[in-house]
Amino acid sequence: MRMLWGAALAAGLGLGVAAATALALEGDPAAGEARYAENCVNCHGRTGRGMASFPSIQGRDAEFIVDRLLSYRAREMVGANSALMFSLSEELTDQQIVDLAAFISTAFP
Ligand code: HEC
Repeated sequence: MRMLWGAALAAGLGLGVAAATALALEGDPAAGEARYAENCVNCHGRTGRGMASFPSIQGRDAEFIVDRLLSYRAREMVGANSALMFSLSEELTDQQIVDLAAFISTAFP
């Protein structure tokens, strides 16, 4: 399954230029799944439910995931523990972010 993100969608959500650029890419859920297993599963869990201070990422749509990861990559504080996500997201490319979003939004409804 593949998803196509239009610039119109990003514009409609009022996201910034970085988000619009990322959302114009096509997310590949299979690539996202592989990266999730490597970089994310330890904290957010196999079902995205999280644990302790690691939040659940279930029931989030792709735009939400992209927006959060772009914020963390830009080192913007979201919650009290954002610093944990800074280092994890700083190496992610726009493509990897949309891949992760495509996977997370469909695998953890
Ligand atoms: C070391 C543990 C850890 C790992 C590994 C980790 N996260 Fe997180 N994640 C957190 C914590 C803690 C927060 C809450 C940060 C805050 O307070 O803003 C968070 C927040 C998030 C959020 C925002 C949730 C919300 O409701 O605002 C998303 C989306 C997310 N992580 C995705 C990922 C992805 C994708 C990966 C893999 C690239 C990943 N995380 C790897 C600990 C982790």
